[in-house]
Amino acid sequence: MTTVGHETALSLDEIELGNPATFLRDDVDAIFALLRRDRPVGFDAEVTPEGLPPGPGFWSFVRHGDMFGISRDYESFTSVPAVGIFDYPVRTSIINMDPPIHTRYRLIVNRGFTPRMIRKLKENIGAQARQIVEEVAARGEGDLVTDNAAKLPGQVIAAMLGVPYEDQEMVQRHTNAFIAPSDPEYGGTVDDMVAASDAIEDYAKHLGRLRREHPSDDVTSAIVNAEVPDETGTPTMISMEDFAEFVKLLLVGGNETTRNAITHGVRLFQEFPEQKEGFLADPQTHAMTTADEILRYATPVNLMRRTALRDVEVAGASVKEGDKVVMWFRSGNFDDEVFDDPWRFDVTRTPNDHLTFGAGGPHYCLGANLAKVEIGVMLSTLYHRLPDLEVTGPPVKMRAISSNGIKHLPVRWTPS
Ligand code: HEM
Repeated sequence: MTTVGHETALSLDEIELGNPATFLRDDVDAIFALLRRDRPVGFDAEVTPEGLPPGPGFWSFVRHGDMFGISRDYESFTSVPAVGIFDYPVRTSIINMDPPIHTRYRLIVNRGFTPRMIRKLKENIGAQARQIVEEVAARGEGDLVTDNAAKLPGQVIAAMLGVPYEDQEMVQRHTNAFIAPSDPEYGGTVDDMVAASDAIEDYAKHLGRLRREHPSDDVTSAIVNAEVPDETGTPTMISMEDFAEFVKLLLVGGNETTRNAITHGVRLFQEFPEQKEGFLADPQTHAMTTADEILRYATPVNLMRRTALRDVEVAGASVKEGDKVVMWFRSGNFDDEVFDDPWRFDVTRTPNDHLTFGAGGPHYCLGANLAKVEIGVMLSTLYHRLPDLEVTGPPVKMRAISSNGIKHLPVRWTPS
């Protein structure tokens, strides 16, 4: 099995974790390796985007073992007002709530993730993936991201929510602008992000109104017609505002994360061809461990932030009330205290305690299982139909701190 180099020329003083430009570098994982070794806990400055007041900086935790306490201790670390480093003026439903309100609302979203709903979605994923690949097969070349990787998660989440085909591209344009306010190709300003957030919410309300009048068996209908106990225990129908935020979270959470995971999968298979062969020899058996290893190695969501509600000691750091605290999942995923030879990309790796869906606690990703199925199915379908698919140029990275995003990845194959 192959390993890759993990050296950076930067010194500790030169590392800027609060600057989106850092995440365009090729040595990001090596930077984290240096930090784990020489500065496992530190305080970093924010390069706050234009349009926001300057931020106070944040604590960085980069070791796997230091994140669980933060993630689980919601009484000391709140998800309000934001879970990214910067305080953008938008909220995204349950991911920005703390228990006990979080618990009440998460129960509603859970209605969308019943085993029956998930089974129904999974049944269609194979057919959707085959159609997506078929549409480009005769072309012989393309952009893996826009032609393939983005389409499956977009369609799955659209099927889940009942978003009609003709609206899917518009929705994806807005979710891109929402998640990447630092990237000019997707918008690039705080105003663009706020406008995208408003547009998604308006669209969600439109869907919600339709499903209140004519319920169907999709998740939108299940959520918009849900009654939840309020603080006094009285069953109350959820407000259109709350509903719209749920939908926004599902659209944002389910789209680009999974698209990036699939794209990184292709990138990693190119880099480690013997692992691709191992997966393709028996995709059924290896689908879940392969998805987990791609998710560990690529960590589509680099971090989650919390804010301290009181003074608290964490891994020797004296965190003060109001301080921002960042868990760098991407770093924890290469921690050699936990992962045997972490630079080895190994599609059979077990156990694989990666932090890609969170470090436990109340916010653990609701779509984890669905995302893993999508990754396994898309990759096996892609190489089954286009066996000589190869990457022909470097990935074009997204300019963002929170996401390990790839905007474009040129590929070619023998047309058929
Ligand atoms: C590769 C794909 C994905 C990645 C890397 C990912 C990652 C994450 C992470 C890191 C969190 C926060 C965990 C925490 O703070 O403890 C999260 C939360 C969440 N994810 Fe995902 N996710 C993915 C796919 C999905 C999909 C497909 C959906 C929905 C269909 C989804 C829905 C959610 C929701 C609703 C939450 C909020 C849960 C809460 O706050 O209680 N995710 N995800």
